[in-house]
Amino acid sequence: MNKNTALPRVAVGDLRTDLDLTRDELFALLDLAAAIKANPRDFGRALDGKSAAMLFEKPSLRTRVTFEMAMAQMGGHSTFVAGPIGEREPVRDMARNLDRWVDVIVARTYSQRTVEELANYSRVPVINALSKDYHPCQALADVLTIRQEFGNDLRGKKVTFVGDGFNVAHSLMLTATRLGMEVCVATPPGYEPKREMIVLAHTVAQEGSGSLKITNDPVEGVTGAHAVYTDVWFSMGEQTDVPQRLADFSPFQVNEALMAKARPEAIFLHCLPAKRGEETTDAVMESPQSRIFEEAENRLHAQKALLLMLL
Ligand code: CP
Ligand code: NVA
Repeated sequence: MNKNTALPRVAVGDLRTDLDLTRDELFALLDLAAAIKANPRDFGRALDGKSAAMLFEKPSLRTRVTFEMAMAQMGGHSTFVAGPIGEREPVRDMARNLDRWVDVIVARTYSQRTVEELANYSRVPVINALSKDYHPCQALADVLTIRQEFGNDLRGKKVTFVGDGFNVAHSLMLTATRLGMEVCVATPPGYEPKREMIVLAHTVAQEGSGSLKITNDPVEGVTGAHAVYTDVWFSMGEQTDVPQRLADFSPFQVNEALMAKARPEAIFLHCLPAKRGEETTDAVMESPQSRIFEEAENRLHAQKALLLMLL
């Protein structure tokens, strides 16, 4: 993960996609996140004097606040820059300005290409804080939450993502399979994860003896699941074809009836924000099975661990 070390992974030192963390680094990060969560004060000066630039093209509550608090609670500093990236000046120029001033760049972008270009030109680590294709920081908090429920050895545990095969589903597939999980993604026809992500996930699943299944049947998907996960039907920048998407996704609502098909001890996860009454219901979000706020809390701990490992 040292940007200056020639490790075999392409984007050494960045978190452009989930796969920039090797499997060993992923385990180490999750262990560190748990240690930070247990004793946050032990890490109170761990990023003394370090600074982060946060470039956000899209809105955020959780990602912004957890990165800002992660930096502040470890003795560092962050500065937030909202607006389009690469419009006022080229992305590569932004990267080469910022790396003179800060120790890490955190970027939330529309295009994955923007993250890649920032990483290619920046001499400091670049963290993907969500693009159209990935949400790797979310996946770290998700698997941390699942570990805290079912133990550190997640081999054979099943997580089912129900809904749009988009950024959050992609990252879950690429991260949870490597921990040995059975990952199932249940989408309406035409909303499956990108073909290249499916291929990638099948490949990396072998590292951890995990597996990936794609289905268009939500009931089949959640049967036997330890964790049921959903996300909005209209992602940021994707608010098109509203009546069609509502019709296509309505059988995929995670409601009490669908949750009842999962294991009795199954937990409910959602990256948030949620559109209550669309992809899920009040009853499920407020149920004893819901771990959505633990999951949101874990964003902070997982990203502290990530920052420590990158810096
Ligand atoms: N889950 C998540 O990334 O939330 P925000 O969009 O509020 O950052
Ligand atoms: N899929 C959602 C996730 C938000 C955290 C989006 O991209 O808007």
